[in-house]
Amino acid sequence: MLLRGYEADDLEAMYALDVVCFERPFRFTRGAMRRFAEAKKARVTIAEENHALAGFVILHLEEAEGSRIGYVITLDVAPEQRRRGIARLLISEAERQACEAGCAALVLHVFTGNEAAIRFYVSIGFMRSHREEEFYGVGIDAWVFHKRLAPAMA
Ligand SMILES: CC(C)(COP(=O)(O)OP(=O)(O)OC[C@H]1O[C@@H](n2cnc3c(N)ncnc32)[C@H](O)[C@@H]1OP(=O)(O)O)[C@@H](O)C(=O)NCCC(=O)NCCS
Repeated sequence: MLLRGYEADDLEAMYALDVVCFERPFRFTRGAMRRFAEAKKARVTIAEENHALAGFVILHLEEAEGSRIGYVITLDVAPEQRRRGIARLLISEAERQACEAGCAALVLHVFTGNEAAIRFYVSIGFMRSHREEEFYGVGIDAWVFHKRLAPAMA
């Protein structure tokens, strides 16, 4: 399993994997995926196996109420590659990048009905903060999860 940064050529495979991973209204359009992945504040980690995309995470470095946080835009692992620890590796790398950038925490939204993702985030030490009603649309709520990060050594 190779972890590496994003290249523009990755976009089509990322978009295709997102379509497999998420139904509407959770999936991104191609344009939205490009904007999220190519934003200046984005840190994208690609997991590759035998030159094929196995998973990816898009992290944004955000300023929130005077402190920096790492916001997980999306985390996608190919169905045939799941339960091999790939998401754990991707989030570890996002944590490392967020720490390096001086972030105090990782934060994310997850659909309240996404049991697999909720179990995953709990298993790696995320805490549930609160529910955001209709975050994804009418009647579709999200949980906000966060994980505090140890400050990077100066
Ligand atoms: C959620 C997701 C990213 C997990 O990816 P993964 O690579 O399979 O996760 P890992 O193998 O790193 O799992 C680590 C641990 O998380 C927990 N976990 C992961 N998937 C789980 C599931 N389906 N059910 C229960 N626990 C699960 C387990 O504790 C697992 O450890 P174990 O396999 O030793 O029991 C993947 O299922 C996925 O891409 N889903 C669709 C997209 C999505 O929902 N993304 C997150 C939205 S915010």
